[in-house]
Amino acid sequence: MFYNGGMDDGVKSGGPTRVLVTGATSGLGRELARQLGARGWRVAATGRRADELQKTAQLVRAAGGEALVLPGSVTDDEQVRGHYAAIRSAWGGLDWAILNSGVGEAMDAREFSAEVVRWTFDVNLLGAARWLEAALPGMIAQGSGVIVGVASLAGYRGLPKSGPYSASKAALMTLLESARVDLRGTGVEVVTVCPGFVKSEMTARNDRRSMPFLMETPDGAAAILRGVDARRSVVHFPWPLSLPVKYLLARLPDALYDRLAFAARNFRKKTPSEEALRRASRGPA
Ligand SMILES: NC(=O)c1ccc[n+]([C@@H]2O[C@H](COP(=O)([O-])OP(=O)(O)OC[C@H]3O[C@@H](n4cnc5c(N)ncnc54)[C@H](OP(=O)(O)O)[C@@H]3O)[C@@H](O)[C@H]2O)c1
Repeated sequence: MFYNGGMDDGVKSGGPTRVLVTGATSGLGRELARQLGARGWRVAATGRRADELQKTAQLVRAAGGEALVLPGSVTDDEQVRGHYAAIRSAWGGLDWAILNSGVGEAMDAREFSAEVVRWTFDVNLLGAARWLEAALPGMIAQGSGVIVGVASLAGYRGLPKSGPYSASKAALMTLLESARVDLRGTGVEVVTVCPGFVKSEMTARNDRRSMPFLMETPDGAAAILRGVDARRSVVHFPWPLSLPVKYLLARLPDALYDRLAFAARNFRKKTPSEEALRRASRGPA
């Protein structure tokens, strides 16, 4: 019997649990990989920055896990297929797939950019879709598996200056909900994760005052894993923010929401990432 960190993963792969974490080069993805490594699990880590991915692999190994390093982009069909083939050939398949890669730039509709919408959807929605297409057949065939999609509380309403991000996360939440229903009875479970604010590279570019109940990265990752371990359909946190957003803001009459959100729009201040500036200088795709 192998060491499984004392965790019952609910799947029966016959060895340490095999988990994919996309976007494992920083923030929540890196910390999820490290915490899963501490369970003695096998962690396949993806992301575009190969050097940062190696650092994540070192953290996984130092914590007691096994790491498979798969540098590349979730926006590239061939790379995603190649990464899944590498996982199959190393471990025979996957037990968990944590689809966490994401980008989140501010965009004011007064300066609308279709390129920001396209890029955001390509990573946040289609990046997850490419991995669902790659990983689901194997999970269905083995009769077990857990898909974890990292969406956001921002997906519950169109937040000011956040159209591309809110829309991409709303679409991801709906896609995952349909998948959860379709996959009932196959042994494959789908968990949607909606974090509030957690410290990461993405949130480091936000104005601190616009992030109530900001969490430390290890606490955010631990909250995700507690929810997945419990197999909640939707994991949302921290509760002082997520309960009002999910059960109040999301149900507010439209005209009232519009007024409140307009009043709050000036709180949304974000420094663009280097990638966003590069893309903006290239103009529309
Ligand atoms: N932190 C929060 O407050 C918060 C709240 C709600 C939801 N979320 C969600 O949590 C997830 C993780 O975000 P984070 O906050 O930890 O931010 P982060 O530190 O910026 O991490 C984002 C990760 O996504 C990866 N990524 C971006 N573009 C990619 C691409 N084309 N292909 C593959 N990977 C790509 C990045 O890796 P490379 O750049 O190396 O490719 C990085 O590892 C995101 O989906 C985000 O929307 C975060």
